[in-house]
Amino acid sequence: MSLPPANTAHHDAPQPPDRDALVRQRSVAKYARRAAAYDASCGPTMPIRARAVALLRLAPGERVLDVGCGTGLSLPLLRAAVGATGAVIGFDHSEAMLAQARARVAQAGWRDVTLVGCAAQELAAQPALAVRVDALLFHYTHDILRSPRALAAVLACARPGARVAVAGIKYFSGWLAPLNFWVYLKNLGYNGAPGELRSPWDRLAPRLHDWHFEPTQWGMGYLACGLLRAEAGAPAEAVR
Ligand SMILES: C[S@@+](CC[C@H](N)C(=O)[O-])C[C@H]1O[C@@H](n2cnc3c(N)ncnc32)[C@H](O)[C@@H]1O
Repeated sequence: MSLPPANTAHHDAPQPPDRDALVRQRSVAKYARRAAAYDASCGPTMPIRARAVALLRLAPGERVLDVGCGTGLSLPLLRAAVGATGAVIGFDHSEAMLAQARARVAQAGWRDVTLVGCAAQELAAQPALAVRVDALLFHYTHDILRSPRALAAVLACARPGARVAVAGIKYFSGWLAPLNFWVYLKNLGYNGAPGELRSPWDRLAPRLHDWHFEPTQWGMGYLACGLLRAEAGAPAEAVR
């Protein structure tokens, strides 16, 4: 795996102060409509999910955060990896999605899985995350990756050196690029901020070292991992 060319063009682009609120509002509305059929639509990406979890190299007893956990499709894999002595914490701002995750946990009788209904931007106030986690899973969490505030709050929940895995959708490059309007439309149905698909990881990658990246799905997806740099543990308040 190799590091793709960095795209730093829009790292520091000024954003209107209410952008996060607007994006979140759209996201919650979209997932209220999508939640019931969400799991059925995830079949093609289940192998990528398994690979992303494997990249975390979880060990029994560790604490892992499932970022924007949705309906909880990653929870069985994460829980199997950290075992009954570990802890899995998932959060999501969509009550419609989280209701399914809660049902999944209740049905399985998992007491070591904690689900939190909140926005990434509000994580600092969550007692379940008072102890920093050993690993972070970002599986198809585009809106969170694209919000500097949300991303900073998530990274502040992890210890320095924490293992991070990220998977998601991106634009094709090269000769398949003419298909990118279709990629945009595909993403539009899910995310509150459907654009910025050229390098959606480019706010996360600089916060990690030992970064590994590979395109998936013929270039329409990506899978990457790295280790959280020490300075990334700064309190989320610092960037508000
Ligand atoms: C494409 S779904 C992925 C869900 C899950 N990670 C999976 O792989 O199945 C994106 C999820 O991120 C959640 N989300 C988006 N923005 C968020 C935010 N700012 N705070 C918390 N959750 C957010 C959405 O509600 C949705 O459940």
